[in-house]
Amino acid sequence: MTAPPLLIIGTGGHARECVEAAQAAGRQVAGLLDQDSTMWGKTLPGVPVLAGDPAEHRSRDAEWLVAVGDNDARARLATALDGCAFATLIHPFSWVSPSAVINDGCMIFAGTVLQTGVRLGRHVIINTGATVSHDCQVGDCSHVAVGAHLAGNVGIGARVLFGAGAVARPGVAVGDGATIGAGAVVVQDVAAGVTAVGGGVARPRKG
Ligand SMILES: CC(C)(COP(=O)(O)OP(=O)(O)OC[C@H]1O[C@@H](n2cnc3c(N)ncnc32)[C@H](O)[C@@H]1OP(=O)(O)O)[C@@H](O)C(=O)NCCC(=O)NCCS
Repeated sequence: MTAPPLLIIGTGGHARECVEAAQAAGRQVAGLLDQDSTMWGKTLPGVPVLAGDPAEHRSRDAEWLVAVGDNDARARLATALDGCAFATLIHPFSWVSPSAVINDGCMIFAGTVLQTGVRLGRHVIINTGATVSHDCQVGDCSHVAVGAHLAGNVGIGARVLFGAGAVARPGVAVGDGATIGAGAVVVQDVAAGVTAVGGGVARPRKG
């Protein structure tokens, strides 16, 4: 059976990446949607930005993708479309273990690796070149950014930004709504809502 066309919410860089990833995966993109009426009628990249509020398109025979990078905005927009069918986008140049559980609305980009036992909530972004090792869990509407790496058994809550190039040590937990700065090395748990920054410097241990 042919997959239904996609309607993609957003017109920013992340949405344009989603269009191309969807096309690489053989999906037809029917249009982009944006509440900003100045975008209506434009074409980005080769796909029309449709006029009208996203909610006005609810009844179409399509699958939806909320392609907005900001985690809180993505969560709000997804809630507003409750009841619609959400697509799961997996770029063909990624490796997703057959045992991984990927929920609706997730966006998995090129160069990613999701290993055995990984579980992703809804509307999660695993961005270009990120790796998620065995048995990690990533909560709803979180974003594992470009080139980030989660070692095994890491727990990421909901709406977490795990910044570009950041690394998590095996087994650490990052609470809901936390932000991990670009390039950080997470060696201990980070509580909900906290912003944590700082890379590690390898040095010999005393004793
Ligand atoms: C951590 C972060 C959220 C802080 O953002 P912010 O509150 O706007 O911070 P500012 O840019 O005002 O910087 C505040 C201070 O933190 C430092 N800082 C900012 N980001 C840092 C980082 N990632 N690592 C170390 N220090 C950092 C700044 O140098 C500055 O230091 P100073 O006060 O000594 O001058 C942000 O810099 C970041 O890393 N976001 C992740 C972005 C990302 O990876 N997006 C995904 C793209 S795919």
